[in-house]
Amino acid sequence: MTDLHSTSYSDGDVDTNTSVLPTLNELANARFSRRQTMMRTAGATAMAFFGTSLLAACGDDDNEAPTVSAGADGTTSSGRLVTLTATASDDKSVSTAAWSQTAGETVELVAGAANAVSFIAPSVAASTVLTFEFKATDDDGKSSTAKTNITVAPAQLGFTAVAKNRNDIVTVPEGYTVTVMTRLGDPLAAGVSAYANDGTDSGFDQRIGDHGDALAWFGLDAGGSRADGSSTRGLLVQNHENITQAYLHAAGASLSAPRALADALKEIECHGLSVSEYKDAGNRAWSYVQGSTFNRRITPNTDMVFHGPAAGTAYLATPYSTNGSHGRGTINNCANGHTGWASVLTCEENWAGYFLRSGDDAQRSARELTALSRYGVTSSTGNYGWSTASTTDNRFTRWDARAKVGSTAATDFRNEPNQFGWVVEIDPYDPASAPRKRTALGRFGHEGAWLGKLTAGKKVAVYMGDDSRREYLYKFVSTAAWDAADATAANRLAVGDKYLDAGTLYVAVFNADGTGTWKPLVAGSVPDRPAVGSFPAYTFADQADILVNTRLAADAVGATPMDRPEWTAVNPVTGEVYLTLTNNNASNRPLGGTDAANPRHYGDPKLDGSISYGNPNGHIIRLREDGDETAAATFKWDIYLFGADSADSSPMNVNISGLTADNDFSSPDGCWFSRPTNAAGKVKPLLWIETDDGAFTDRTNCMLLAALPGTVGDGGAKTITNVGTSGSATQATIVGTPATAANLRRFLTGPVQCEITGVDSTPDGRTLFVGIQHPGEEGNPAAITSHWPESQTSTTATSRPRSAVIAITKNDGGVVAL
Ligand code: FEO
Ligand code: CA
Ligand code: CA
Repeated sequence: MTDLHSTSYSDGDVDTNTSVLPTLNELANARFSRRQTMMRTAGATAMAFFGTSLLAACGDDDNEAPTVSAGADGTTSSGRLVTLTATASDDKSVSTAAWSQTAGETVELVAGAANAVSFIAPSVAASTVLTFEFKATDDDGKSSTAKTNITVAPAQLGFTAVAKNRNDIVTVPEGYTVTVMTRLGDPLAAGVSAYANDGTDSGFDQRIGDHGDALAWFGLDAGGSRADGSSTRGLLVQNHENITQAYLHAAGASLSAPRALADALKEIECHGLSVSEYKDAGNRAWSYVQGSTFNRRITPNTDMVFHGPAAGTAYLATPYSTNGSHGRGTINNCANGHTGWASVLTCEENWAGYFLRSGDDAQRSARELTALSRYGVTSSTGNYGWSTASTTDNRFTRWDARAKVGSTAATDFRNEPNQFGWVVEIDPYDPASAPRKRTALGRFGHEGAWLGKLTAGKKVAVYMGDDSRREYLYKFVSTAAWDAADATAANRLAVGDKYLDAGTLYVAVFNADGTGTWKPLVAGSVPDRPAVGSFPAYTFADQADILVNTRLAADAVGATPMDRPEWTAVNPVTGEVYLTLTNNNASNRPLGGTDAANPRHYGDPKLDGSISYGNPNGHIIRLREDGDETAAATFKWDIYLFGADSADSSPMNVNISGLTADNDFSSPDGCWFSRPTNAAGKVKPLLWIETDDGAFTDRTNCMLLAALPGTVGDGGAKTITNVGTSGSATQATIVGTPATAANLRRFLTGPVQCEITGVDSTPDGRTLFVGIQHPGEEGNPAAITSHWPESQTSTTATSRPRSAVIAITKNDGGVVAL
C-alpha cells in the first residue's frame, strides 16, 4: 500500500502483467501527471473554470459541485490487495467523501490514506467485475460521483520463483517478509528465563521443544475464546518430533551409559508438542506471548487416555496403567491434522527406535516376536540410551522394553512400545485436558492424519500414511455421520469420541489400471498373515490385536507397499486425497520391484560423481473416492507429480512432470491445501509441498513449493523405461498433467541442513506459518554448520542453530502466494 497518492490503483502485482497495453500503474501515473501539470500551471482559478465546463446544470448559484475522479478501471486476481484512490476538489471545500461498492461480490473496504480504500480481491470462479463509487459532497451539500470497475480473475500464483540455493537463511520471493516466531528453547511460562542456547538450559517442559514439525493455527478472539475465523490472535500448535542432540548439551552429547539423568530428561522433554499463543500487534506484526494461560507443553511424560477398541486391553498394560487405560506421553510426533471441530490430531511416527529391546526373545511369545520385528522394535540401546539414566525412576526405565525373567507386563515395560504408534487428539484450547489416543485409527509409523471433506450426513474419513519404505496408505471411516452442529461444540474431545472411536480402518490397494480398493481391517475378515522367514503365521485374536498390530493385518490383506508414505492432504473443493511418497532406494525396491503406483527406478547423478538408484526424488500420488463418498470402497488414482533434478534427469523417464529450474524438487514430505476460508483455498485450491531431502541437497537446501493442481485423470497412461545398475525394464503407470510455470513454483528455500516441516495459515491467508526443522543438523557445538535463525537477520551470526516457526507475510498485505 505504498504510493497511495501517486497511484489511483494498485494490486501489488509487479511481475505477471505481460499485456502490451499500458499497465494500470502507467495509466494511473499518467493521469496523475496530467492533473499535477494542470494544477501547477493553471492554478485554482483555471481549475474552477475547468470544473465548471465539465459540470452542466449545477444550479444557478455560484457554488459548483466537487470535481471527482475514481481512478482508472483495472484488473486483478483473487486474493490480491487492491487499493482505490480517488481525487476530489471543490471551489469551496469538500466536506465529506466516501467510497462504496455498487456492483459485484461484496468486499470489505478498508480506509487508507486520504480518499483511498483497499480490499482483498474475492475468490471468483470466472472473471467478475466489481464496481465502486466515490462520492464527494461540498459544504453546501452539492455532490459528485465517479465510478471505477475492477475486473477480478480467478486465483493464480503471483510471485517470482525462488532460485535454488544453499544459503543459511530462509529465502522468500521479493515482496515478502519473514518473521521468526517460536524457536527451540523459547520460554512459554511466565518467569522462565530466555534461552541461553549454550547447552546449559533446562526446564523444557516450559520451553519450546526441538525439531518443530507439523503445525496448526487455532483462532482466539480478543476475550480469549475460540474464534475459528480470527487471523490476529490464536494458538500455534506444533509437534516436536525429535532432537539434534549435540546442540542441547554444553559440549555436545555423549551416549555413554549411564546417561546423566538431567541430560536424558532434557532430551525427553524436547519431544512432544507445544501450544503457544501468537498475537498480531497490527498489520501482521507477529510475536508470541510468553506467559499466556494457553501456553502448554505436552511431552513424553504427559498423561493421556486410551480410547477406542484397544483401550483397556492387555496389549496396553504397563506399570503406569496396569489395566491399559492410560498412556504416558507422546513421541516422535510428525505430521498432524486439525479436525473440523477445532482439535488437533498429532501422529506418532518413528517411535520404535526409542526403545531398548533386544536379548529378551526367550521371554517373548512367537506372536510378540513377530510383531516386534515387524515394527522394528529391535534396538540394543534405544535411540538416546534414556533407559540408562536411572534404575528406579520409571520416566527413564520405561524406555527399556525388555521382558524380564520372572516379571509381567504390570512390573516391567515389555508393553511400553504398544503405547506408541497412535494418532493422538488434543484440545488446544484446554491446557488441562488429557490428550486421547485414538486406537481405532490403528498403530503404525503414523506420519499424518488428515480428514476427508466433511459433508453433513456423510461419514468422516481420515487419511493416514505409514512412513517407512514399503509401507501403506490407510483410511479410517467413522460409524457416525457428520453433524455440522458438532463443528462448534464446546466439548471438542467428546466430538472426537463420536467420530474417531467407532468406525472401520481400511488399507489401500492400488491396481495397475488406475483403480484402487480399500481393504477393511476387521476381525473375522482379515486372514492369517502368512509365515515369513523364521516368523510363523500370525492369527489375529480380535479387533484390538488388529489395531495394535495394524501392519501385520495390512500385510495379510495384500495392501500395496509404497515408496515411503508421508503426509496426506485433502483438496477442500474436490475432496481428492494427495499422498506424498518421499523416496525409495534400490535395496528396498529393486528394478524389478516397481508397480504402477510406484513406477520409477533410475539413477540420480550427484555433483560429487556418485549415483543414487531407486526413486530418490519421490512422487505424489492422489486419489478420488468413487462417487465422492468418504466411505467408498473403491477409488481412482493417478500420479500427480514426480520429483526430479531438471538438470540431469531423463525428461521421458525421470523428469516426467517436466520440472524446470524454477520448480524442480526432491523428496516431497509435508503437503497441505490452503484453507478454504480465503481465496487460496477456494475454486482451485493451492497445494503447498514441503521437502525433506538428501538427494537434491548437492544443489539446494530443502524447499517449499506452491502448486495449483488439476484433478485425478487430467493426464493419461504412460510407460516408463526404468534403468537400474544392470539392465532396464518398462513400467506402465498413470500420470497427471505436467507441471508448468503457472501451476508450480518454488516459494521458499530453507537454511543449511534443514527440513521444511509444518505449514498452516491464518484463516485470511495473509500470514503463512512454516516450520523450519533441524537447521545445521550435521554439526555440533565445536563445528556449527548453521547459525539459523540468527543468520536470518545477521551476517555475523555465531549462535547454535534452532528449529523455529516463521511467519511469512506479503508486504502489501495480500493473500500469500497469490
Ligand atoms: Fe517425520 Fe516422515 O517425517
Ligand atoms: Ca462547491
Ligand atoms: Ca542430480
